[in-house]
Amino acid sequence: MKEKDFIPKTYSKTLNSGNVTWSSPSNIALVKYWGKKEDQIPTNPSISFTLDTCKTTTKLSYLEKVNSDDFSLEVFLEGEKKDDFKPKIFTFFKRIEKYLPFLKNYHFKIETTNSFPHSSGIASSASGMSALALCLMSLERSLSKIKLSDEYFMQKASFLARLGSGSASRSLEGDLIVWGEHAEILNSSNLFGVKYPFKVHEIFKNYHDTILLVDKGEKQVSSTVGHNLMNNHPFANLRFVQAHDNLSKLIKVFKTGNLNEFIAIVESEALSLHAMMMTSMPYFILMKPNTLEIINKIWSFRKETGLHVCFTLDAGANVHVLYPENEAKKTIKFINSELVAYCQNGHYICDRIGFVAKKIN
Ligand code: PMV
Repeated sequence: MKEKDFIPKTYSKTLNSGNVTWSSPSNIALVKYWGKKEDQIPTNPSISFTLDTCKTTTKLSYLEKVNSDDFSLEVFLEGEKKDDFKPKIFTFFKRIEKYLPFLKNYHFKIETTNSFPHSSGIASSASGMSALALCLMSLERSLSKIKLSDEYFMQKASFLARLGSGSASRSLEGDLIVWGEHAEILNSSNLFGVKYPFKVHEIFKNYHDTILLVDKGEKQVSSTVGHNLMNNHPFANLRFVQAHDNLSKLIKVFKTGNLNEFIAIVESEALSLHAMMMTSMPYFILMKPNTLEIINKIWSFRKETGLHVCFTLDAGANVHVLYPENEAKKTIKFINSELVAYCQNGHYICDRIGFVAKKIN
């Protein structure tokens, strides 16, 4: 599928008003996307576990309007009007208008709720942009003369979500999603996420992700700024090569179920991401002292017990603690007794590998 394949021909049907609701999962990257070119094209491929508990549900109501000069929308988060969200959605609409030419013909009401606590420091942009893209695709499907296949529907939704937030392209299906071209994954694309196509060992089924909320505050540096700092970054090119290599290594690990290898790749990816932040110009640090306390505790516990708990980080201070189902009991006990103390107000979220986004109505 090429970029031009997502530009629709004419729509035949008309719709005056209606609404549609989608619920989309969040995701956690194992090989990280950090750095992008124009139009949200990633500078390296990434792969993520889709999550199950952390979700965004979005209801999109549309009403045909007479004047189609500009976009018209209102946004509600958890029932509260959020005018400060509008510029982000306007920018998103501008980027995707070419692919959804009906956008100026409607007034949109976007009502969003997150399953995870508001301002928990968990980025809602991936699940949020994915849910909105899916709602817009449902509207496109209703307006289309030709029947849109499910495959086209999901690919275009991922393509649109990517234009809202890169990692959102991986937040539509499960349980492992690749985004960005990789030599060994033939159907991989820079334009949209695809399902990981190879064999995955049983040990990765039902994998747990307990998210430790170390810092719920607003990030000091947005991911948009962070991505841009990868332009002219002294280590950027090697970092991109490393991401390609780590994804190649993961293909083997997913097949064999070698958890020690898995841990080495995933933790190295998390620390490499943060190393890129620390060596950007200007440089910045998103980890907090408690992030490092948790990492050290995980390393000691792993050494003492031989269990396969590991961590990963996204662009923030929170820690994602990953572990297999068959070690969950002992690991959860460890998290409760040793790690929760480092969470802000003792807050954490128990999540695990999840699956496809769902249409609610
Ligand atoms: O989708 P963005 O622009 O918010 O970037 C997300 C980047 C990381 O979360 C740090 C890594 C990733 O691949 O999800």
